[in-house]
Amino acid sequence: MTTSFKNICTFTILIFCVAVCASQNLSKSSREKAIERKADSVLKLMTLDEKIGQMNQYNGDWEATGPITYDGDKQNQIRKGMLGSILNVTGVEHTRQLQEMAMQSRLKIPLLFGQDIIHGYRTTFPIPLAEAASWDLNAIKLSARIAATESAAAGVHWTFAPMVDIARDPRWGRIMEGAGEDTWLGSLIAKARVEGFQGNGLGSLDALMACAKHFAAYGAAVGGRDYNSVDMSQRALWEIYLPPFKAAEQAGVATFMNSFNDLNGIPATGNAYLQREILKGKWNFKGFVVSDWNSVGEMIPHGYAKDNYEAAMEAVTAGCDMDMESRSYIKNLSKLVSDGKLNPSLIDDAVKRILIKKFEMGLFDDPFRFCNVEREKQQWNNPSNLEKEKQMAEKTIVLLKNENQILPLSRQTKTIALIGPFIKSVRDNLGFWSYIWPDDTARIITTWKGIQEKINKDSKLLYAKGCNINDSSTAGFAEAVEIARQADIVIIQVGEAPDMSGEAKSRSNIHLPGMQEELVKAIQATGKPVVVMINAGRPLIFNWTADHVPAILYTWWLGTEAGYAIADVLFGDYNPSAKLPISFPRSEGQIPVYYNHYNTGRPAKNDNDLNYVSAYTDLPNDPKFPFGYGLSYTSFSYSDMDLSGKSFKAGDSISVSFNLTNTGKFVGTETVQLYVQDLVGSVVRPVKELKGFQQVVLKTGESKKITFTITADMLRFYNDKLEYGFEPGDFKVFVGSNSRDVKEASFALIK
Ligand code: NOJ
Repeated sequence: MTTSFKNICTFTILIFCVAVCASQNLSKSSREKAIERKADSVLKLMTLDEKIGQMNQYNGDWEATGPITYDGDKQNQIRKGMLGSILNVTGVEHTRQLQEMAMQSRLKIPLLFGQDIIHGYRTTFPIPLAEAASWDLNAIKLSARIAATESAAAGVHWTFAPMVDIARDPRWGRIMEGAGEDTWLGSLIAKARVEGFQGNGLGSLDALMACAKHFAAYGAAVGGRDYNSVDMSQRALWEIYLPPFKAAEQAGVATFMNSFNDLNGIPATGNAYLQREILKGKWNFKGFVVSDWNSVGEMIPHGYAKDNYEAAMEAVTAGCDMDMESRSYIKNLSKLVSDGKLNPSLIDDAVKRILIKKFEMGLFDDPFRFCNVEREKQQWNNPSNLEKEKQMAEKTIVLLKNENQILPLSRQTKTIALIGPFIKSVRDNLGFWSYIWPDDTARIITTWKGIQEKINKDSKLLYAKGCNINDSSTAGFAEAVEIARQADIVIIQVGEAPDMSGEAKSRSNIHLPGMQEELVKAIQATGKPVVVMINAGRPLIFNWTADHVPAILYTWWLGTEAGYAIADVLFGDYNPSAKLPISFPRSEGQIPVYYNHYNTGRPAKNDNDLNYVSAYTDLPNDPKFPFGYGLSYTSFSYSDMDLSGKSFKAGDSISVSFNLTNTGKFVGTETVQLYVQDLVGSVVRPVKELKGFQQVVLKTGESKKITFTITADMLRFYNDKLEYGFEPGDFKVFVGSNSRDVKEASFALIK
């Protein structure tokens, strides 16, 4: 290339950037059009190889989350404009180094830096499943906002989040990364997370591009085994699994990631129905789709492509715009075009989508705009972020049991025994998809530290580890029992290690691992009052503990300030308000167990009804803890449920109201839940579906009238022709504090 041509290209791109900046004041759609024109103009300057380069994404060669291919010189490829994006490189210094290489390329097209910012960056927030337990959409949005602010200040442009996969199988390790089992709640949370990550919009210095993943149905892997196949009806796909993706799309999510699984025999990465027909067709999604790690290449072991040549062809044809780490595109797309197998307009479309995002991020204007050392420093130690993290963590802790009001504890308690493998552990508070920083040990607040700082000076803390997380030794039991005997109250913290839930962390046995439940039994046998806290990334099974121990808190993986949040809850400075976003099974044999199941033709009348009904002969049908469940230190009563009428017509609405009273001794927040059942449909309908919730704060003795409005739109579902509509008929409406404990009334939707 001659120097003068190089200059023309640079000049041309500069002009575009000026135009893009000037366009900031234009209306949204004219700004979009202006950016589209600029992307078109850049596209015209590009060679086929440079276009293919934009569709190529490599790992930064450290912090790998999968197999890395070392063939080829990544840095040279950046200089040649053969790379559009890089993942797992953060920090202003590193991103600047690589971006400088991109600026040596002919067209100086900036790189996009992508990263799994799942639940925080410098400040680790509770895992996404825990955050879903807050049912607090503003708090969830704020958590994503802070994660975006911290990571954007460290040079990151793009997060591979939120994961919006609905999951009903707690054996699946990635359940920790989503919002649980309910589609409607999951859709609201998907929107909140996209809005949180993307802030005031792409181009703001504290906004990340979000990525709705994994498109689609990844959460329905057969047997809960990660990466496994998915076989499901069209109705289940549309009604249960797609809505959170649609919600993310409507919230303006910049990108989508396809998924590892095959869906009804076609790998999602090569699935034109999902990507072209639904996403880019019906939904008119304007952003781009990135593959999952090597998922293009994995179409070979799937048995869907013979080699990478075929895999690349299938993926691009199906609408996958960027290839993460498989090198199938960079090695094969040019030949596919020259062989006449791939229409180059598909490449143009993919590249244009990618360029548009780079323009929207302002990277053509200034490729180093996310590389500001001062901003990075400021966000590195931001005490306000830590405070917000603690507040979020408090909202996620679920009080599962509190017999005899053991909790909250008094600060005056003389001797407290703290027992269990999680009491003093540090990294175990963060969970999968969190970052390791050199000062973690000093920074992460352990349970021990949180409680130590909370209690009175003359109170005494005793400690014994008791056992490890996951081995068969009981050697530490005697010491633990001994200190329990000396205490006025015993707090035991058990659970699973952070690497036991997450990607590729499916487990067939989800009981409390190792000897931990035996430890709980040994301590409970001392007769001392016991509180058990459970750290986990999924619903675990702990029936003995649930049946015998008087007080239980589910403490998930709470993040950097975990210990402070735990101490606040234990001592009543925060009154628990969280509600489970997923059912907790009694045994693995019950999985999948979820609240919005069908009634069947032979529903069991009760747990003892085994008379040729749909039941297990050795297990009740209902879960140990139902969806929506969670206690408070206070108590609430629901009374005077009333409907505004007996029926309503489409276009009108009906309201359901009731009185909520705080009947206990503490100020408390109750998440009141509204469920509906369509009694007769052209296809069978679930026994309950969540349709609304409100978070209500009440003082002791205070009552409030709560009202929900139901419209016909809220009663829509997919019929067997995949038409989305409501059907006149009879309905039940339920209000209550969880999906099991409800009051009910009836109404009709009439023509
Ligand atoms: C594989 C995971 O499935 C995906 O969610 C993640 O974003 C990529 N690896 C990149 O780390």
